[in-house]
Order: sequence, then C-alpha cells, then structure tokens
Amino acid sequence: MTNIGIAITAIGSATPKVSLDNQGLSQIVETSDEWISSRTGIHQRKLANTAESLCSMATQASLAALAQANITATDIDLIILATSTPDDLFGTASQIQGELGAVKAVAFDMTAACSGFIFGLVTAAQFIRTGVYQNILLIGADILSRWVDWEDRRTCVLFGDGAGAVILQASNRDRLLGFELRSDGSQNDCLNLSYQPQPKQIIEGVTVSQGTYKPISMNGKEVYRFAVQKVPEVIEKSLFRANIGVEKVDWLLLHQANQRIIDAVAKRLEIPPEKVISNLRNYGNTSAASIPLALDEAVREGKVKPGDIIAASGFGAGLTWGAAIFEWGV
Ligand code: UT7
Repeated sequence: MTNIGIAITAIGSATPKVSLDNQGLSQIVETSDEWISSRTGIHQRKLANTAESLCSMATQASLAALAQANITATDIDLIILATSTPDDLFGTASQIQGELGAVKAVAFDMTAACSGFIFGLVTAAQFIRTGVYQNILLIGADILSRWVDWEDRRTCVLFGDGAGAVILQASNRDRLLGFELRSDGSQNDCLNLSYQPQPKQIIEGVTVSQGTYKPISMNGKEVYRFAVQKVPEVIEKSLFRANIGVEKVDWLLLHQANQRIIDAVAKRLEIPPEKVISNLRNYGNTSAASIPLALDEAVREGKVKPGDIIAASGFGAGLTWGAAIFEWGV
C-alpha cells in the first residue's frame, strides 16, 4: 500500500540565550511585572542578539528534530519555513537548506504570522497526501524583537524570539485527522507590520517607493475578542471533520499569545486545565514558533506521548486563524 498518510515523527526547538524579565522591561517602558503577568501570563521572554539570526535558530531547531527522527538532512524532500521575520526578504528557507546540507530538498518561506505553523502543517501534509514527498521539515520561527517598537508598552511586553521544527513523514496511517484554515483581510489593520513607502525620485518623472517597515501595530482588544471568538469555532470544525468529540482530545495546544486567551478558549470548549499546554510564561509570544516550541517542551517533559491527540490552533495577523487535530508520533 502507498504511504500517503502523515506522521509527525519528531520535533526540536531553539531559543536565544538572553532572557528579559518583566522587571527588566519596566526599566524601558512604564509597566510592571504585576500588569504584564496578570494581563498576559508572561514573566520573561528570550531575545536574539546580533550574533543570532533566524537562520541560526531555525537550523538549530531543525538539527534537533532530525536527530530525534533518526534521519539525515539528505533524506529531506521539502523544507517549509513559516516566518514573518526572515533574515532575507527573498526568503530564508534556502539558507537553512544550505546550512543543513539538505541537498535534495526544495525550500521556501511561508508567511502567515502567528498562524504560520498551522498553515505550514496543512500545506506540508498536502505534499505527502499526493505522494509527491516522503520527508518534510516544517519550521516555525520568528524574531519579532527586530520589529517591535521598544517604546510602545502595548506591544513590546508581549513578544519573544524562538524557533521550532517538526519532521513530517509519509506513513500508512494519516495522523492529521482534521483541519480548518481561515483568513479575513478586512481586519488587517488590527495587527500589522506594514511597509511605509518613502518617495525617491530616481530620474525626472520617475519616482519609486523606498521605505521600510513600520514597527508592529496592534489593537489588542480587537485581537483578543477575535481570538476568543474564532479559535473555538475552527477547533470545533476541525474536530467535526476528524469525526471525534472534544473529550477525545488529550491536549489543547494554542498559539502562545496570552494565558487569558488560552484559558477562555479551553473553558469555551470545556477542556480541563490539566489538558492545556502552556509555556508562554517563559517565552512570551514567539509568533510562528510558539506552537512547536510548546509542543517540543511537552514532548521532552514526557507529557505528550505517541498516540496522544492534539487540538492545535494558531491565530494572528492577516487576520489569519486555523486549527489542526493531529495524533502525535508514530
Ligand atoms: O500573536 C498575535 C495575537 N495577539 C494577541 O493575541 C494579543 C491579544 N490581546 C491581548 O492579549 C490584550 O489585549 C493585551 C495583553 C495586549 C492588553 O490587555 P488588555 O486587558 O486588553 O489591556 P488594554 O489594552 O485594554 O489596556 C488597559 C490599560 C490601558 O490604560 P488605560 O487606557 O485604561 O488608562 C493601557 O494604556 O493598560 C494600559 N497598558 C499598560 N499598562 C502597563 C497597556 N499596556 C501596558 C503595559 N503596562 N505594558
């Protein structure tokens, strides 16, 4: 029988060395540990320095995942890098491919902000389901500290940097049980990192736009409302597609944006706190990295075991949101 099912067989992650706690942030902007921890659940975040790059973090996470899968980089057919903060606007996936020596793999970037890992998971799965590829490396990685306004207390307290990587392999049983992906560009202005054009006349009569990106701008209240309403909907839809009830879910694994959002979604779905994975306390919101980073820790801690059913959901800029129900491991 042809192997056109998906198994998520291994995971790895990497984060910067330097941590910044809430106390440290209160020396930069007018905030407090009390405000940040009670409103978000975040206590510290890791921040990349100039020696650390998206490519270096993503490569480190990928090497850990490859080692766990017990395969080599040359076995990889495809590398998908979900990121909104590439080292190179032309794409960073190819640099990672080069660093890994994954000579057989085609590599490309995919941008879907904090939904990037879920969108990437579903995209990768299509290549396996059609029988085109057998071994895929999916990375979620972001360095939002590059793009945060460090004078804006409404945003700078929220984000951190990191990378997580999973290996998807062709299998005779499909472990991606159901998914639902959504976008709503009409709400783009709620959360963006947009290009600011600056006119530059290059010759009389010809003016081009040579600007830069503005720091992250967010309407926190709107995004909060959106997440709490839309995330349960896509999880329920995905469970319906998977033909399983919510009681069969072993772990709820949401994009790690805010503990209050995680708690509200769990409550709405009637998933008890002991089934909820959360590590944002130590990392803040790491965008596309947050789901694989939290999953990696939960696997290494022995919480998530092979055969466990995970309901995962990402949500954020775009706006984009999505959910995937999958069984962990082989
Ligand atoms: O990954 C992308 C997804 N992003 C998200 O999921 C973010 C979703 N939104 C949130 O998590 C929350 O809306 C925030 C944590 C961003 C904000 O929490 P909030 O309870 O919605 O606070 P708020 O924006 O309503 O602000 C309340 C007050 C304001 O002061 P006033 O106007 O009441 O006097 C803010 O100016 O808190 C003030 N404030 C702060 N105070 C101390 C805002 N940021 C801070 C801060 N420290 N860092």
